Amino acid sequence: MTAGSQQQDILDWTNASWDRLPAAGLRARAGELAARLAGEIAAGRLPFLATPFMAALEQELAALESGFLKPFEHMLLLGIGGSALGARALQKAFAPGQDLPGHRGKSLWIMDNVDAAVLQAHLDRLPPEKTLVYVVSKSGDTIETIGQYFLVKDWLKAALPGAWKDHLLLNTDEHKGYLREEAGAFGMRTLPVPDNLGGRYSAISAVGLVPAAFLGLDWRGLVRGFQSVAAPLADPGLDAAKLAAHPSFEFAVWGKALMDAGFCELITFFYIPQWASFADWFAQLWAESLGKGGQGSQPIPAVGATDQHSVNQMFLDGPRNKACLFVERAAGPEGLPFPADMPSIFDYLQGKRFGELLPAEALGTRMGLCQSGVPLLALRLGRDDARAAGKMMALLGAATLLTGWLMGINPVDQPAVELGKRLAKARLGAGGLAEEKAALAAFTGQGGAAGRDERRF
Ligand code: PA5
Repeated sequence: MTAGSQQQDILDWTNASWDRLPAAGLRARAGELAARLAGEIAAGRLPFLATPFMAALEQELAALESGFLKPFEHMLLLGIGGSALGARALQKAFAPGQDLPGHRGKSLWIMDNVDAAVLQAHLDRLPPEKTLVYVVSKSGDTIETIGQYFLVKDWLKAALPGAWKDHLLLNTDEHKGYLREEAGAFGMRTLPVPDNLGGRYSAISAVGLVPAAFLGLDWRGLVRGFQSVAAPLADPGLDAAKLAAHPSFEFAVWGKALMDAGFCELITFFYIPQWASFADWFAQLWAESLGKGGQGSQPIPAVGATDQHSVNQMFLDGPRNKACLFVERAAGPEGLPFPADMPSIFDYLQGKRFGELLPAEALGTRMGLCQSGVPLLALRLGRDDARAAGKMMALLGAATLLTGWLMGINPVDQPAVELGKRLAKARLGAGGLAEEKAALAAFTGQGGAAGRDERRF
């Protein structure tokens, strides 16, 4: 470690295994991608990098923080996928108190599933008069979110007949979708999801920043960190050389070259335990963006040291098809000193502190992975603060987009998952969808009783 690097964020490519990867042709495409970025940004199609909405949003957040959000003790976030995962990662990383004993203060409850019992438990236990319901849906039509919204709205109306609307904040498309219509019909408080800002690229917008502000997180640090990495990509002066020097491009070259070399699984090993949910956030970002046309690599979220005793054996000695993004911090909390009266087999812990375990284990795991031939990129953060999280989120978002472009696919759509959504609606009896209904009938009746293979166990 060089002098002063304690406070720097480092991408350590030492063990990236470039010698085994066909990267040269991909690197040569920096000019093409720089031109494409410039064109897309000029056309307003990449607001997640250019953040043209941010100045207005920052004003809005400051006002919300000191006013509207203040009296609420609970935020019930209704949203799924990209509308929920960023908020959860930020909460777990920077407001972990809700998972610790003796929590007092604000609580964020993220409802990103449709388990009837869980929704009921929340409605039974939350005090409506102290609860703000934050409904997040870019499309405004997502059945999981809107289904919950109908029930939660009724719950608010029943408890607070004169004030229910004051307990709702909707974040949705500026112009279209059911939620936008609903907001218009009832005059509800709303925030816009800007045009072309897709769910999984929207964490650093009102989608993730309103919950962050509610919890009292350093949302300004997140924004500054994010912009410090994203803004150079949105700069009109971007050219091949500047893009080639940007870490997101190098990451994208690595990501695509790994796929081309048969590394079809990408572990994200977080050795900052409270950041484990960023691995889930990234898994959705990478998988939904890049799983297209038979291509992609499967993201595998993991957290140290826990997963050393779980899936790490497979990482180390299973199929040789894995690469790893390894995220750690330069230094963590020191923790308590070990007591002097430990049994002699633990002598090596004498004089040490509990906080020394995790970095030692991180080093052991990182080295073990490298020695097993897993191509590994280490992201080492000087500080695990909001600014660093913002930087990391911009890096991974931009890298995902650029990897998709190198693959020749569209990294901002998700056509394959639409089929399941249409089938579920057909199953529930939605109008139209004749083809889906016929396909469902064929699937559920598959071959009649004689053709089925169902066994009791
Ligand atoms: O990343 C995405 O685009 C998706 O995961 C969406 O966020 C998810 O499907 C929810 O969509 P919406 O925000 O429209 O309700």
